[in-house]
Amino acid sequence: MTSLTQPFLSVDALHKAFVLHGQGGMTLEVMRDLSLTLSPGECLVLAGPSGIGKSTLLKMLHGSYRVTGGTLRLHFEDGDLSLDTLPAHAWHTLRRDVIGYVSQFLRVVPRVPAVEVVIEPLLARGVDEAEARVRAEAMLARLNLPERLWSLPPGTFSGGEQQRVNIARGFIAEHPLLLLDEPTASLDAANREVVVQLIQEAKARGAALLGIFHDEDVRDRVADRLLPLSPHMGAALASTPANAEEIRS
Ligand SMILES: Nc1ncnc2c1ncn2[C@@H]1O[C@H](COP(=O)(O)OP(=O)(O)OP(=O)(O)O)[C@@H](O)[C@H]1O
Ligand SMILES: [Mg+2]
Repeated sequence: MTSLTQPFLSVDALHKAFVLHGQGGMTLEVMRDLSLTLSPGECLVLAGPSGIGKSTLLKMLHGSYRVTGGTLRLHFEDGDLSLDTLPAHAWHTLRRDVIGYVSQFLRVVPRVPAVEVVIEPLLARGVDEAEARVRAEAMLARLNLPERLWSLPPGTFSGGEQQRVNIARGFIAEHPLLLLDEPTASLDAANREVVVQLIQEAKARGAALLGIFHDEDVRDRVADRLLPLSPHMGAALASTPANAEEIRS
């Protein structure tokens, strides 16, 4: 991974417009001129009202949405990697090894038991199955998921139980960059606390985190900086580069 003194991620003049094919090709511009940097060991929290484009930014960084303009770059010791021009086949490796993502809701795969959902990112990395299972079970136990649920598919789990499976899967592989889309939204206080600890441990091992947290207490405890997205970066208004507001040094 990159040295601690450099940003690991830089986003420059990012622009996103959706073309709505079902609406006669109408264009919806949701982001304009967004710039940010993120360093190893740092947690930058995206803020701003519903619909401003927070999840869209994470999805562009995870390769699920295409970039309309601007650049997204990861900086490694041996050179930069441009995500905005990355060929489709390279995303698989990048998601396996570099960019982890905790979506707001678990995308359930039918018939796959919870523990296997959590093990999968480790197996993809070549971790021995027995070791991967021990680690996955430890993570599920830490997130207080009852042991009787581990061997069941999460399709019928409660919202909070599904989200804990999702969080376990997202954190277990210790990616250098973690994207967190409201991971604590459906959790009780005890489990929110576990997630805060997981985030603090990820920072301590040098991961760079970009997250969305509506819970102010969680936000205050994990954020090194806050980036308020504003309509400046939206379609109808003048373009203004975003400035990250320092809330903690
Ligand atoms: N696939 C898509 N096609 C068309 N429009 C989209 C798509 N994804 C997002 N949008 C639009 O982009 C805008 C930003 O959405 P986004 O989900 O990023 O907001 P958000 O800031 O995460 O909001 P919230 O806090 O409610 O989660 C919204 O107006 C949304 O309708
Ligand atoms: Mg969102």
